[in-house]
Amino acid sequence: MPRIVVLVSGNGTNLQYLIDKVKSHELNVNISAVISDRECFALKRAEKEGIQSFCLNRKGKDFSKNLLSLLNKYADYIVCAGFLSIIDPPIIQKFKFRIINLHPALLPAFGGKGMFGNKVHRAVLDYGCKITGCTVHFVTDDIDGGPIILQYAIPVLDNDDEQSLAQRLSLFEHNILFESVKLLCENRLKVEGKKVNILHA
Ligand code: GAR
Repeated sequence: MPRIVVLVSGNGTNLQYLIDKVKSHELNVNISAVISDRECFALKRAEKEGIQSFCLNRKGKDFSKNLLSLLNKYADYIVCAGFLSIIDPPIIQKFKFRIINLHPALLPAFGGKGMFGNKVHRAVLDYGCKITGCTVHFVTDDIDGGPIILQYAIPVLDNDDEQSLAQRLSLFEHNILFESVKLLCENRLKVEGKKVNILHA
């Protein structure tokens, strides 16, 4: 069974969704470890489920080295589910097209360094967008710029704020992340340049 490591920094609702899909046998992977870059509730979720969890100090000088050695030990594939640290190029090279990231907007809009969580929703609202959405993409050295795997769009409503957008988007985020992990672990994603072709089962 493919071993996936989930990288987290926050609440961990996406991690929980993946855990639940594994438990219901809709996702045939082994979540072999959860790694965070700070203290966060996602770690508690992992501990509660009996999944190996590690909290690394993102400000420490050995952060990337420690991350790489854990990934070497535990990962076939890596899923960034609300992970807020930038992954170093040597790790990306080592796990080329085996690392995916969930982003709370329709990339290539509203991505890049410093664009995460509610900051993304604020920027979408300030721009006056009529639609927004979520994206799962491969992680490359280009922050939030890797080949797109799945996206889902939702309307921005007149009375939306950051919280309402985040809340309405969350179920769609869970779903595209779950579907992407499934496709990745079933080896059904073929990257050609910027395009990801999805192979039929
Ligand atoms: C999700 O909304 C995800 O799109 C976002 O963090 C949240 C994590 O939620 N990721 C980013 O902003 C990455 N740039 P969770 O901790 O409840 O899974």
